[in-house]
Amino acid sequence: MSQIYKPTPANIKLAAELLQSGELIAFPTETVYGLGGDATNEVAVKRIFEAKGRPSYDPLIVHIAEPEMVQHFADLSNKEVKDRYNKIKDFWPGPISVVLPLRTEITDGIAPSVTANLQTVAFRIPSHPVALQLLKNLTIPIAAPSANQFSYVSPTTPEHVLDSLGDKVSFILDGGACSVGLESTVISLAAAIPTILRPGVVTKEELEAKLGEVLIGYNDRIPTRSNLNLNPLPSPGMLDKHYSPKTPMALIENFNSENIPPRTGMISFSTQKKFANFEFTEIQQIGYGDDLNKVATRLYQAIRQMDKLDLDLILIDSCQESGIGSAIMDRISRAASKGSQS
Ligand code: TXA
Ligand code: MG
Repeated sequence: MSQIYKPTPANIKLAAELLQSGELIAFPTETVYGLGGDATNEVAVKRIFEAKGRPSYDPLIVHIAEPEMVQHFADLSNKEVKDRYNKIKDFWPGPISVVLPLRTEITDGIAPSVTANLQTVAFRIPSHPVALQLLKNLTIPIAAPSANQFSYVSPTTPEHVLDSLGDKVSFILDGGACSVGLESTVISLAAAIPTILRPGVVTKEELEAKLGEVLIGYNDRIPTRSNLNLNPLPSPGMLDKHYSPKTPMALIENFNSENIPPRTGMISFSTQKKFANFEFTEIQQIGYGDDLNKVATRLYQAIRQMDKLDLDLILIDSCQESGIGSAIMDRISRAASKGSQS
């Protein structure tokens, strides 16, 4: 049975001991809750994939408290990679993951399943105080995907973790509601030009201010699942249908007002009210377009709540795809995607 534990020093210590002995636990970060396991322990890492029902081609992010661990596990021998990495470090602790070349000659390295056998590895130092305390109690790095069933909406409260993985993880460390609410920005520094593999609240604009030219790599949609076995993806989080509720979801701007099904919910973050005469079964106002941070924080919570109401359809607003709006629209379009992945 799964239980939520208050983040007392004793419970954080217990969580650290469980991780250190190869067990899995769920813990808070400022982005979303993670399902953590020892990143150097292949057995523990395999259990993460199993618990989530996550395909083995989708690599995990490694969570650490101090940048020194990066130097041990990643290959920073290329001067350009190292220079860029040193600039990106300024965003840590914070919601950004950095993909670097893997150091292969060490024997106590990252377990092969973490990286899906790629020659690169993603690192992140989260800023949530509970996550930092937990990681500081450890001598090992922690592999942690979002603590949800594969392809469902990421959890932003401990209760979401209980809902999603209640029978799979016995220990959930409580850090309250996540302040960011969307998964970290993923940037690859292993590419010739730094490339954003997943947009997040650390924006392209902020990254360019540090690094110069930055490419976007997340719009290359992958058409079928069968391709994936042949070609490891640059970042499999780019799968079309991801972060999806069970209920069909659509952008209100694309929707035809004449055939809205009777049980429709509306997630709104615009001041414009569309379909004024239609009585939505549920309306959630998650902020306004001029405060996209708030929209990001509340988005997954709103989608999860709507998804419990047995609706025929969830409609949602949209915003401009710049700044944080890029990450918000990326997640919304994936949640609303009718991709073939189940
Ligand atoms: O905010 C976050 O990043 C959260 C919290 C728990 O830290 N974690 C998270 O993990 O979102 P997950 O597993 O749901 O997403 C990890 C993403 C995937 O898109 C994966 O493909 C990418 O990171 N990734 C990990 N390692 C990679 C690598 N070596 N090369 C390219 N992409 C990688
Ligand atoms: Mg995820």
